[in-house]
Amino acid sequence: MHLHPQKSLYDLAQQHHLEGLTLPSLLALTKEQEGYSIDKAKRFLAFQGRINNEMLNHQVIIQNPYTAWFEQGDQNPAQIKAFIIQFSVFSNQFLIAQLHKMIHADTLESMHASKEILANEIGVRFQSGQQHENLNNQSSTEGSIDGSRFSFSAAHFEWLYIIAKKLGLSFAEIGQPKHGTHATLFFCNELIRLYGGDNYQISQAASYAVENWAAAGFWKQLIQGLQKYNDQTGLDLPLGFFIWHDKLEAQHAAHTQEELEELYFTQNLDEDAFIQNGNEMLAGVAAFWDGLEVQRQELATTH
Ligand SMILES: [Fe+2]
Repeated sequence: MHLHPQKSLYDLAQQHHLEGLTLPSLLALTKEQEGYSIDKAKRFLAFQGRINNEMLNHQVIIQNPYTAWFEQGDQNPAQIKAFIIQFSVFSNQFLIAQLHKMIHADTLESMHASKEILANEIGVRFQSGQQHENLNNQSSTEGSIDGSRFSFSAAHFEWLYIIAKKLGLSFAEIGQPKHGTHATLFFCNELIRLYGGDNYQISQAASYAVENWAAAGFWKQLIQGLQKYNDQTGLDLPLGFFIWHDKLEAQHAAHTQEELEELYFTQNLDEDAFIQNGNEMLAGVAAFWDGLEVQRQELATTH
């Protein structure tokens, strides 16, 4: 028995030069859980170094020209409309990718995890113990959908539709694949193929790449840009969609690393393939933003 379990875990990490491992992994190491060994932990840390240098330094994660421009808030009406339309297409296509991911789950737990995200997307609120409704009557970003109620107004797509309406767009002008550019559709198809694919190692690599991209700060840049746009135009676009996702990602980020470590210790991970598949997913992500960048330049002179 240890009086300070956390401290003894850090001691163990220091003693074996395993600083950087998440707490659950250190705990599993001390318990000598199946698959966990000091040796494998050292191999993981070397692998993490490769991931950092060969995947997480991707342009779309560290330097995204479109979101850097967007953050300035200098959009003209055509540019802001185009952005909302492409995002609405992505938002709907993501449902398909998430449904595929759910169907391809190989444990009940991972099916639940995927189903939770899907159900929440279409309008089932997360319920946590101490839930308070916020400004846009949105649900909490924590808790579970189990036992919770569906409502149309909790669907993420409808939060985007509220913005679209304020911009003068009709329902028929958003959300469908026919409104997507080639770049947007390429990204969505890559999500379905890789993130939602039936190969576990590929979908895990794609998931890890997507989570790290989503946690890299682009939601904050979009929020910043939209707030400035609101200030300049007095339009008062409701930003719930973006604020909610930013909050959600902040929570995901913490779990993403733990999931990778668990995957590494419990499965026989092909390191090269993981990095290659992650980069393939990020190429799809980059295509989406680069497509938006090209489009906003084309729309620079329109009003
Ligand atoms: Fe969403």
